[in-house]
Amino acid sequence: MNNRYLCPSILSADFARLAESIGRVESNCDMLHLDVMDGHFVPNITFGPPVVKSVSGVSSLPLDCHLMIENPDRYLQDFARAGTTYLSVHQETCPHLHRTIQAIRGEGMKPGVAINPYTPVDTLDLVLPDLEFVLVMSVNPGFGGQSFIPISVTKVRELRERIESLGLSTAIQVDGGVCEETLPELLDAGANWFVAGSAVFGAPDPSEAARRLQEIIRG
Ligand code: DX5
Ligand code: ZN
Repeated sequence: MNNRYLCPSILSADFARLAESIGRVESNCDMLHLDVMDGHFVPNITFGPPVVKSVSGVSSLPLDCHLMIENPDRYLQDFARAGTTYLSVHQETCPHLHRTIQAIRGEGMKPGVAINPYTPVDTLDLVLPDLEFVLVMSVNPGFGGQSFIPISVTKVRELRERIESLGLSTAIQVDGGVCEETLPELLDAGANWFVAGSAVFGAPDPSEAARRLQEIIRG
């Protein structure tokens, strides 16, 4: 099994006090998840490379950028220069998925592909050997604080079987509605990177919330 990581999503943090919010959770997490939304692929707009660059200046954690944008190829270099380590694009936005994955590696980042809740996992069969991780969306992308979609557990299980049957060690990241209640079944199904937005930054004590989640994740 791969390493198990907690990846807090800053989407639920106070953007005016980002450095302070990140500082509170840093010692209890493994990377930071940054949700980039364009108002086209998803019905919400967040931030782009300048904010990623600012975050890289205040944290030594690896940055994991989740691009919920159309035509991501156009911006890969900007995200690499901003300090991104892990970068995921959506399968639904990439007609030339293999080319995009190669371009992400070409920019020195570790590639992941995200799939929406109702995109089947077998659409990634052919690219699995080229990926560092697969991001299984467990809510419809666009907003924090939504309810977990239970079919995601079945998808994680199926994906873990496919990865193992190919002899790979690809990580499975789950994003959306991850909390103390949904974590155990996701762990059991074979997920190993966990994005949590509202369960961390929406908690009264984000530091303690991250510590508890990390404790469950590490077992
Ligand atoms: C949603 C984003 C998530 C979001 C998760 O489109 O990709 O990363 O921050 O938020 P929670 O953990 O609150 O569901
Ligand atoms: Zn995300």
